[in-house]
Amino acid sequence: MDLHKEIEKLKKEKNVVVLAHYYQDSDIQDVADYIGDSLGLAQQAETTSADMIAFAGVHFMAETAKLLNPDKKVVLPDLNAGCSLADSCPPDAFRKFREEHPNHVVISYVNCTAEIKALSDIICTSSNAVKIVESVPVDKKIIFAPDRNLGAYIMKKTGRDMVLWNGSCMVHEIFSREKIMRLKARYPQAEMIAHPECEEAVLLMADFVGSTSALLNYTSRSSTKEFIVSTESGIIYQMQKNNPDKVFIPAPPDNNCACNNCPHMKLNTLEKLYNCIKTGKPEIIIPDDIARKAVIPLKRMLELSAQPV
Ligand code: 13P
Ligand code: SF4
Repeated sequence: MDLHKEIEKLKKEKNVVVLAHYYQDSDIQDVADYIGDSLGLAQQAETTSADMIAFAGVHFMAETAKLLNPDKKVVLPDLNAGCSLADSCPPDAFRKFREEHPNHVVISYVNCTAEIKALSDIICTSSNAVKIVESVPVDKKIIFAPDRNLGAYIMKKTGRDMVLWNGSCMVHEIFSREKIMRLKARYPQAEMIAHPECEEAVLLMADFVGSTSALLNYTSRSSTKEFIVSTESGIIYQMQKNNPDKVFIPAPPDNNCACNNCPHMKLNTLEKLYNCIKTGKPEIIIPDDIARKAVIPLKRMLELSAQPV
């Protein structure tokens, strides 16, 4: 069976939109109606007129789409496609943390569960985190969760002091500073670009730091021909497609595994995508009481993102 063709057929028959994150395998990216970073995907989910959203990404992203479309069916090819960063922030412990820091505005990175969103005041993504933090009056104290690396980076960028939750992403923490240094010596013309979920030691070596979409745009904008890419390797597919004459070198992890592939993202396959569109399962279901609270900070983020700086 030609899965690509069958998915295209099903999309039309059932009025389905396929939204895919840049970290998905290339065959999934090729069948998507929209490929984006977390912010772009949330914005697309907010405005879609499709009856069903097939979300090729991880669970918290599909949950975000569902929060914005409570009356639509949202399916995820593999319900086990989780996120180490979201897992690093369990709701009970976070509720306690919030109580220990009263009178703080809670800003949560979108990479968290709906329960954490329900405990937050505003959501942000790596694309808009600076803008969201700067929207909070300077006399207000801030809790930033769950990514300590993004939080520390935003603190540096904005000069705001924030209380950070100690969470991290297993993919972005694995890059080896020493191996990147060796790569830089081997490719002296190359620019090193990094996602702000990386550790500070890696970010300090970067020529450009940005969200997945910002990194992609930068590689097209820059006159440089070689890039060392310190983020999940799935993004390289679009970088190479947009810039066939440029060379993209994935930054190496600190061991010998393919750890710069997100194992959660990679649980989705084209076959699972086909099956979930065909059967309408597995479906994302969020308890009403959590959904009602979680959508408020999410919509706040989308409103703030739409406003000019
Ligand atoms: P962005 O899509 O916001 O760049 O985040 C990267 C990521 O880790 C998604 O899981
Ligand atoms: Fe989560 Fe990291 Fe995978 Fe993104 S790359 S989904 S933050 S584990």
